[in-house]
Amino acid sequence: MTDRALFDVDSDPRWLIEIDGWHPDKEAGVEAVCALVNGYCGVRAAVEEGSAASNPATFLNGVFDAVHELVAQSAATPEHQVIAAPTPELVKAPEWSQLRLRVDGTTLDLDHCELLEQRRTLDMHRGVLVREWRLRSAGRTTRLRSLRFVSLDDRHVLAHVVEIVPEDWRGDLTIETRVDGDVTNEGGVRHLVDTAARQESGRLLLSARTTEGKVSLAIASAAELINSDGREVTGLAEADGPTLRHAWTVRVEPGRSHTLRKLCVTYTSRDDSQPAARALAGLDAAVAAGIATLHAAHADAWAARWQAADIEIADDDEMQRQTRFALYHLIGCANPDDEHASPGARSLTGERYKGHVFWDTEIFVFPFFVYSHPPTARALLMYRYHTLPAARAKAREQGYRGALYAWESTDSGVDVTPSFVINAAEERIEILTGVQEHHISADIAYAISQYWTATHDHDFIKAAGAEMLFEIARFWASRSERDADGRYHIRTVIGPDEYHEAVDDNAYTNAMARFALQRATETATWLQAQDESRWQSLSAALDLSVDEPAAWVEVAAALVDNLDHDTGVIEQHHGYFDLRPADLDSYEPRTQTMDVVLGWRPLTETQILKQADVVMMLALLPGTHPRNVHEANYHCYEPRTSHDSSLSASIHALMAARLGDLEDAQRYFAKAARIDLDFTRGVTAAGGVHIAALGGMWQALVFGFGGATASADRLTFEPHLPEAWGRVSIPLLWRGETMRSGAVNVRPG
Ligand code: BGC
Repeated sequence: MTDRALFDVDSDPRWLIEIDGWHPDKEAGVEAVCALVNGYCGVRAAVEEGSAASNPATFLNGVFDAVHELVAQSAATPEHQVIAAPTPELVKAPEWSQLRLRVDGTTLDLDHCELLEQRRTLDMHRGVLVREWRLRSAGRTTRLRSLRFVSLDDRHVLAHVVEIVPEDWRGDLTIETRVDGDVTNEGGVRHLVDTAARQESGRLLLSARTTEGKVSLAIASAAELINSDGREVTGLAEADGPTLRHAWTVRVEPGRSHTLRKLCVTYTSRDDSQPAARALAGLDAAVAAGIATLHAAHADAWAARWQAADIEIADDDEMQRQTRFALYHLIGCANPDDEHASPGARSLTGERYKGHVFWDTEIFVFPFFVYSHPPTARALLMYRYHTLPAARAKAREQGYRGALYAWESTDSGVDVTPSFVINAAEERIEILTGVQEHHISADIAYAISQYWTATHDHDFIKAAGAEMLFEIARFWASRSERDADGRYHIRTVIGPDEYHEAVDDNAYTNAMARFALQRATETATWLQAQDESRWQSLSAALDLSVDEPAAWVEVAAALVDNLDHDTGVIEQHHGYFDLRPADLDSYEPRTQTMDVVLGWRPLTETQILKQADVVMMLALLPGTHPRNVHEANYHCYEPRTSHDSSLSASIHALMAARLGDLEDAQRYFAKAARIDLDFTRGVTAAGGVHIAALGGMWQALVFGFGGATASADRLTFEPHLPEAWGRVSIPLLWRGETMRSGAVNVRPG
């Protein structure tokens, strides 16, 4: 493949995110939106030579570290307090694609030169980032372009190509590419220590470990510079402190190119006990293959994933592009080969939420994998299986049985929810989600059930799923209290609507707990019938008597549901309708969240919701209530919902579409798409893309507009598609087959 072809992007703009020019105030959002992701690593799309507006970062999935509080505080300044330490966070890995260009003492970069033009293109089809730009400085005009990708074929391989062409000058140009281990997380927190760079048989190698010593990582690097005659130019390779440097000084001529080709391979002790040796061996193999071959294999890997995932919308180009944006980041957020990592709330694209794993994974992101790439769905469930010991410990600590999963989780599954935060109004808000937002345990049971129904992966249920379901059911049985009225109640919780804390009988929590209890009971019966010996061994290991599951259904049947049979309205929690009504429209146009507008305490005394709650429950459990209940609750809660969480809009799109209200559905879908793609207002992707909102977009399309519903024996469709979209084609995997439906024109597999 020629270099020209390497820089090619898809000719169909519906596969592209194009960012023209340079807008420092939007740069943080752009870097996340255009990030390269392959489930193993995520690379923000920062310009390679850096700038005052740049926030470059490379994250490796599952690499977490918490520095000692003193270390963290030493980085604090009066302007920037470090309050989160020692909360574990996703570690910034060495910057592997740094570029320095110098001519006559001038640095060729955005901060020192005039930028004549620039376009960054994320080609979502091939998973590559191409940048083209022209700089002028001291009468010299230079044309540059670069290509970066993180391979989906071999997730450890990172590639960078830069072409430099002086348009109207000649002279001596120094080109330097670096791997920089001197990186810190937000607030200057340094997680990588013992950084050592060395040369090893012509290759450069950087190794480091995290401060807690849990992870060692290694990155090996090779680079070459090719002139316009196709000849390699001799340069310098240096291991220098925490930095790997490849540098060349060349005589350049107008119109004559120099092309830098760089390959890095990275491994950590999470992947291999000898990460340095693996990185070096991997680099040798990558160099032998060459960038063109690696690029082709990478593009093929993306093509295969798109084949199973692409939703085609024939007549609405913008919808098509937004949809592919969601799919691109979903494909790239998780690694099917890693059972010990799960996507954080901002995927691998930013530091917000510190890489922590929330219910966002199981309830928002996970369904996409169930129906397009079951091995990834399985790996995500295995992550919860491996963290079951921590969930058991959390249940015990809070005085319950079974498994209570962490509200915020990292590598160990221990709850790492911070205890307080300073909000935008500079109020100190105690965070109670870690101790009260328990629905996560039911959400995981829901995900297990969804996976099982769609894949019929009985082996997974026998090996891991049943154990999780039983422990989760145990938790809910012990968490529910029986009153004199004979009904069961779940008290002092936070539901999805986090604007109301310590509430009793949150309808979402109760309904999801009921679902978990029922499903666990059915699973016990199934296991007894299907695999008596596994039932024996598992029940013995868990000390589970045959009668215990019978008690679970009893609790499930008697849990209160808050349904008013006359109106069909489900009260969000006990006493919700006694709270002060509020007219959200009267605060429009609004740019801040309602906790900032009203203050935290006054807000909690109103009926204003942060995000879908009862609506969320109905979206997940469509079969539990008739249509009139769905309608009544959508109309009751929609006007009360502030959508201050990015998780809300897509679920409203789903519900509105299901109800056939296409106007609302499209409005909410557009709102969900704007969260990351609109850099000019509202929430932006600065701290990383909102992966739950993107998963919610997929669900709005499939379960809302597409009207897909899974039942025990089949997948049915009742589409509600806007006419303007034209033909819509949705591929869905169902028990190993790609489903087709005439109604939604599901594409042949
Ligand atoms: C939302 C949660 C969500 C978390 C991470 C919060 O603002 O209320 O539902 O899990 O963000 O995305």
